[in-house]
Amino acid sequence: MVKNRSVDFFETQFQRQVRDQEYALNPFEILALDYLTGEILDLGSGLGNLSLEAGRRGFRVVAVDASPTAVARINADAKREGLRVQAIQADIETWTIDRSYDTIVAIGLLMFFRRETALKLLSAIQEHVKPGGRAIVNVLTEGTSYLGMFDPDNYCLFQKTELEERFAGWTILESRHQTFPAPEGTRKEFSTVIAEKPRV
Ligand SMILES: C[S@@+](CC[C@H](N)C(=O)[O-])C[C@H]1O[C@@H](n2cnc3c(N)ncnc32)[C@H](O)[C@@H]1O
Repeated sequence: MVKNRSVDFFETQFQRQVRDQEYALNPFEILALDYLTGEILDLGSGLGNLSLEAGRRGFRVVAVDASPTAVARINADAKREGLRVQAIQADIETWTIDRSYDTIVAIGLLMFFRRETALKLLSAIQEHVKPGGRAIVNVLTEGTSYLGMFDPDNYCLFQKTELEERFAGWTILESRHQTFPAPEGTRKEFSTVIAEKPRV
């Protein structure tokens, strides 16, 4: 089991959500649904609300997350509904993307690593998207003042335009910057990029 504060934070949150059957898609997952194509890798899938909905729409999905509660929920629901969705419990910091996918999703994940690790993971995502396939990436940016879910040794905030800039040469299908209120008067600022890899 991965030992860091953010993984513990989400494991506790997911245990409560499973108990309360709280499985709503977040706005980034809702946006992502229209851009899914082919075989999908969902990194940092959380409870798998996107992975399972993709499975219901006929996609084959591999979901990866450190939370045992999330992985158990995804695999149980996938089996019950007969979906081609498989969840793997792993520490994404050391897990290697094993092959190429048509779509790789990383919603709300990269900021939970040191900057160097986050950028390496972003490069690995870009490398493992098939030509003509899509990357769907969402991160927290500078301006975010809610830091309660971060492990102090393992996080980074992206610059506001950085994510889109790092997809230079790809076709940008969506690029959004959004601010949401967070506990105790703080805020979260997100950058979301959906980009298509050139075919050659
Ligand atoms: C903000 S949540 C996002 C979950 C989901 N993608 C969503 O949009 O609701 C971050 C997710 O990253 C996972 N995570 C954080 N650090 C991780 C690590 N080192 N290895 C695997 N998963 C990790 C957490 O368990 C959590 O599910």
